[in-house]
Amino acid sequence: MAISFTVNGEKRRVDGDPAKPLLWALREDLDMVGTKFGCGAGLCGACTVHLDGVAVRSCQTPVGDVANMAVTTIEGVQASDAGKRVAASWVKLDVPQCGYCQAGQIMSATALLAQTPRPSDEEIDAAMMGNLCRCSTYVRIRAAIRDAAGIAETQA
Ligand code: FES
Ligand code: FES
Repeated sequence: MAISFTVNGEKRRVDGDPAKPLLWALREDLDMVGTKFGCGAGLCGACTVHLDGVAVRSCQTPVGDVANMAVTTIEGVQASDAGKRVAASWVKLDVPQCGYCQAGQIMSATALLAQTPRPSDEEIDAAMMGNLCRCSTYVRIRAAIRDAAGIAETQA
């Protein structure tokens, strides 16, 4: 079955099983490996992409469900103003450690700021709670989101 959708603004098409997770359609069929496989069970957030602007877990999203929709991945996140600011703050505050979870973190943070330009700490925590980091970069992640939002850092 042919499934058409856009990825980072470009029309793409994959042929195959519509039940295949979007994560693997991106990585295997479209050779876009920035989106990472972590748990494969919707528990870690490493595979987060945007679907029509909403952060979703691509390991839990059948590719057949994204027909005619707009997918944004880490490769294209900086096309949006929010994505550009998040990426710049990530670099400025040197957020990553091993880096494995960071594409997913950036995608969730960008979706948050696109929807809520000046989030409270509670809103940041709620948006980011499904993105796990084994290196425990959580303090820098929150600081970078606040920096990208133009909110002064109040933590000691
Ligand atoms: S790989 Fe998708 S949530 Fe962990
Ligand atoms: S930076 Fe290593 S898992 Fe998050």
